[in-house]
Amino acid sequence: MKTLIILAHPDFDKSLANKTIIEDLKLSTLDIEIRNIQDLYPNYKIDMAAEQNALLRNTTIVFQYPFYWYNMPAILKHWFDVTFTHQFAYGSKGDKLKNKNFLASFTIGASEKEYFTLGEHHFRVHDFCKNLEQTAYYSQMNYIDPIYFHGTSLTAGYTEEDVKKKAKDHAQKLIERLTNLK
Ligand SMILES: Cc1cc2nc3c(=O)[nH]c(=O)nc-3n(C[C@H](O)[C@H](O)[C@H](O)COP(=O)(O)O)c2cc1C
Repeated sequence: MKTLIILAHPDFDKSLANKTIIEDLKLSTLDIEIRNIQDLYPNYKIDMAAEQNALLRNTTIVFQYPFYWYNMPAILKHWFDVTFTHQFAYGSKGDKLKNKNFLASFTIGASEKEYFTLGEHHFRVHDFCKNLEQTAYYSQMNYIDPIYFHGTSLTAGYTEEDVKKKAKDHAQKLIERLTNLK
C-alpha cells in the first residue's frame, strides 16, 4: 500500500521531533512518498494539480507536523484549502479521495497533564482534532485515530535526548500502524 507523507514543518532545519520521525520513516521498508510542503512552497503558492496527483497515486495519507496553536501549521491549512477542492474531495462528483486512509501524526510541546479540564490547556488533544475528523468524513476518507506525543518543547525543560527517544518510539508506532493497514 502506497503512503503519502505530507510533511508540514515551517522550520524543519531546526526540528528535532519531526525530523527524527521522518528519518526513521525513511529507514523503514514502507513504500512512502514524502512531500515537504514548506520546502516545495516557501511562498505558499501550492500547485493544486501536483498535490492532487500525489493524493491520487497513494492510498494512505499521513499528515506529519508540529502542533501549533492547538492546530496544524498555517501552511498545512492552506494546503487543505488549495487541494481539497469541490468535485475532487467533495461535491456530487467529488469522490477522488473515497476510501483513502487519513492519518494525522503530530508532536506536542506541552505535557499530557496540561491537556485536561483543570490543566493549562483545558481540552483533551482529541477535542482539537474534530475538524480533521470531519474533513476526512466529508471527503469520504477513512479517519484513523491520530498518533501524537507530548513534551517536545526544549524551552519547557525537556532534554534533546528525551525528545529524540519519544520521537523514535512514535516513529515505530506509526510504522506499525501503517504496516497493519495493508
Ligand atoms: C508557533 C508555535 C505554536 C505552538 N503551539 C503549541 C500549542 O498550541 N500547544 C503545544 O503544546 N505546543 C505548541 N508549540 C510547541 C510545538 O508543538 C513544538 O515546538 C513541536 O512539537 C516541536 O517539534 P520539532 O522538534 O519537530 O520542531 C508551538 C510552537 C510554535 C513554534
